Amino acid sequence: MKTLLLKFIFFLVLISTSVRADEGMWLPSLLGNKVYNEMVKKGLKLTKEQLYSMNKNSIKDAIVLFGSGCTGEIVSKEGLLFTNHHCGYDNIASVSSVAHNYLKDGFWAKTKQEEIACNGLTVQFLIKIEDVTDKVTAKLKEFKPNEVSSKLQGVLAELGATASKDTPYEVRINNFFKGNQFLQFTYQRFKDVRLVGTPPESIGKFGGDTDNWQWPRHTGDFSIFRVYTDKNGNPAEYNSENIPLNPKHFLPVSIKGVKDGDYAMIYGYPGSTNRYETSYGIKQKIDIDNPNLVELRDARLKLMYAEMVKDPAVKLKLAGNYANVANYWKFFDGESKQLIKHNVIAQKENEEKEFEAWAASKPEYANLFTNIKNTYQNWRPYSKHRVYLNEGINGSALLAFAGTLKQIDVLYKAGKNDDAAKYAKNLKSFYVKFIDAEDIPSDRNIVATVIKMFFNNIDENQRPQEFYSKLKTMGNLSTDEPYQKLAKQIFETSFILNKEKFEAFLEKPDTAILHKDEAYKTASAFVDNFNANVAPQLSKFNAEIYTLNNLYLKGVLEMRKGNEFFYPDANQTMRVSFGNVKSYKPKDGVYYKEICTVKGITEKYVPGDYEFDAPAKLIDLINKKDFGQYVDKQTNDIVVSFITNNDITGGNSGSPVLNGKGELIGLAFDGNYEALSHKLAVDKELNRTINLDIRYMLFVIEKLGGATNIINELNLIKI
Ligand code: ARG
Repeated sequence: MKTLLLKFIFFLVLISTSVRADEGMWLPSLLGNKVYNEMVKKGLKLTKEQLYSMNKNSIKDAIVLFGSGCTGEIVSKEGLLFTNHHCGYDNIASVSSVAHNYLKDGFWAKTKQEEIACNGLTVQFLIKIEDVTDKVTAKLKEFKPNEVSSKLQGVLAELGATASKDTPYEVRINNFFKGNQFLQFTYQRFKDVRLVGTPPESIGKFGGDTDNWQWPRHTGDFSIFRVYTDKNGNPAEYNSENIPLNPKHFLPVSIKGVKDGDYAMIYGYPGSTNRYETSYGIKQKIDIDNPNLVELRDARLKLMYAEMVKDPAVKLKLAGNYANVANYWKFFDGESKQLIKHNVIAQKENEEKEFEAWAASKPEYANLFTNIKNTYQNWRPYSKHRVYLNEGINGSALLAFAGTLKQIDVLYKAGKNDDAAKYAKNLKSFYVKFIDAEDIPSDRNIVATVIKMFFNNIDENQRPQEFYSKLKTMGNLSTDEPYQKLAKQIFETSFILNKEKFEAFLEKPDTAILHKDEAYKTASAFVDNFNANVAPQLSKFNAEIYTLNNLYLKGVLEMRKGNEFFYPDANQTMRVSFGNVKSYKPKDGVYYKEICTVKGITEKYVPGDYEFDAPAKLIDLINKKDFGQYVDKQTNDIVVSFITNNDITGGNSGSPVLNGKGELIGLAFDGNYEALSHKLAVDKELNRTINLDIRYMLFVIEKLGGATNIINELNLIKI
C-alpha cells in the first residue's frame, strides 16, 4: 500500500512539473511553439511577430520599465503612459506640498503645459535581447569556484558597461537559472517623464493595507504620466522645450469589458521569484527570515503611523517609505502562512527526490542535497542577526545613513584620502534625500525600540559587547529607560541632522568629528560587530549556496531538456504571462466572483477613515449611476477590478492586461492572499492576479477628474 502510494505521488509530481499551463513568465523573445500554441488555445489572436519582434514594431515596444521597479505602458501617439498609483506614489508625494496636496486631492493636467516634471523619474524601453552565456562563463572561469558568487555582479556590470560604451543605450546582463544562462538586454532610457494625472489617494489607495494583497478589491490603483524627448526624438533631461515621445507602438484601449474565461495576457518586468528554491531554503525562510522581518517591520510601522496621523506634512514625508515597508510586511507574513498551508516544503522534497532518482548514476550530483542541507545548517545560527541588522538597526533611517559613513573612515585609515573625499562628495545627493525625508520623532522611537529588540533577541555572544555594557550605565537593559535615553542623546546631538554642518563635512571630511558623533558611534558598533561576527559566515554561505544551486539547476536543465514549458525565474527582465479571467474558491464554502464593482466601494466606505474614506463626488456619481460609456452591461454597474490566473509578481505592478487582440483591458496591480507563496511555488488552483478594470479607470478620469483631454488621446475600441 505504502509503495503504491509513493509511486502514485511520484507520478503526480512528474505530471505537475511537466505540464505548466498558466504558470510561467515567458521571455517574449524566446517563446517556444508549444507555449505559443497554448496561448492561441486560450484565446490569443496575434502572431508571434506581433508579440515580439526585433525588426518590426510589436507590443513589446509599448511596454516600459517604469522607475526602478514597476511596469508602464504607452497608450497614445504622444507618449501617454499608464501605470499603477502605487508605482507613481513616491513621485506624486514628492511633487506635492501641504498647500498643493496631489496625493490627497488628486491632480489632472488639462493641457500639456500643466503636466508636472518628476525629478529623477525615468522609463526604459527594451531594444533587444542577446544570449551571452559563453562570454560570461568564459570570464567566470578566471575565478576559483568559491569566488564566483562574490565576483559575479562585478563581472556582469563590467561586461554591460563595455557593451554600452559609445552607444546611446544601457546594456545590462542578467543571470538565468542560477548562473547557467546569461542574457544581455539593451535599453533606451528616457529621463523627462511628467505627471499627467492621478486620482486622490482615497481612490488610488482605497482600502489601504487592510485590503492590500486581497480580493475583492476596490482600489483605483492608477496614475498617468507622459514621456518627453528632445526635438529629434532622443532621450533628454527635463527641458521645457522637449516634445512628447512619438512611440514605435502604443496600445489601443478596449472598453468592451471582461467575462469569466476571457483570454488575458500580461507584459511586464516581474522583479524576482525563486521557484527552484530547495526545501532547505524554504525552511530557512519560514523559521527565521520571514518571522523576524515581519516582527521588526511591525514595530517600525506602528511608530511611523503614530506620527503620520498627527500631521499632513509628516504623512507626505513618510508616505512612500511607509507604503513600501507595509507592502512587504504583509507579503512576507502571508508568504509564510501560505508556505505552511500548502506544505511547500513537502512539494520541494518531492521534486528533490525526483531529481535524485534522475541523478542516481551521475557522480557529479552525489551528495548535492546533503551539502545544501549542511550549508543551511551552518548559516542558520547567524541568520537572524542579518535580519536584525537590515530590518532592525538599518530600519532607522538615521542609523542606516550613519552606517554608510563608515566607508569614509575605512578609506582614510587605508591612506586613500582622495578616494575618501570622493566618496564623501558622492554621498551628497543621497544625504539630501535622507534628510528631506527624515522624521525625527518616529525615527527616535525606532532607534530606541530596535536596539532593545536586538538585545532581547540576538545571542549574547553575537551582540556588540562594549556597546551594551556602556548602555547598561544608563539603566536596566530589560527596561525602556537606557534605550530612550540613548535615542534622546543621539537625536539631540548628532551633527548628521544639522544640514549645514553635515554638508560642510561632506565637502571636507574630518573623521575626528565623526568619531565623536553619537549616531555614528551607535551605527558603527553594530556594523563592526556584524563584520566581525557574522559577515565571514555570510560570505561562506553565499559562496557555497551559489555553487550548489548552480549545480542543481544545471542538472534540472539537463533533466528537463526539450521541455518547452520550463521557464526561468523572474529577474526584472521583460516577460509575458497568459491565462484567463477566472473566479475561484479561496476556502471551503466561499466563492469569489471574477469581478467586483463600485457597489463594494459604497459598502466599504467609512467617511474620514484613514483607509476607507472616498471622495464625496465619487460616492455621488456611484449613487446617481452616472457611468457614461463605461457601464458594464451585465451588472449595470462599473466594474472596478477583475481577477485572472496569470503568473505575475512584484515589478509587474502597472503592467498592461491585454485581450486576445492586444488591446488594453486593465492594469495588473496585485496578487491574492491565498497564493502569497507564489514567489517560491505557484498554486495553480488559487493563484490570481488582481487587475484594475480599464473602464473604472476611464470613468474616474472623465467623470471625477473631468479630464476628457486624456480620454480623447486614446484609441478607444468600443465595439
Ligand atoms: N501589493 C501591491 C503590490 O505589491 C502594492 C500595493 C500598495 N499599497 C499598499 N497599501 N501598501 O503590487
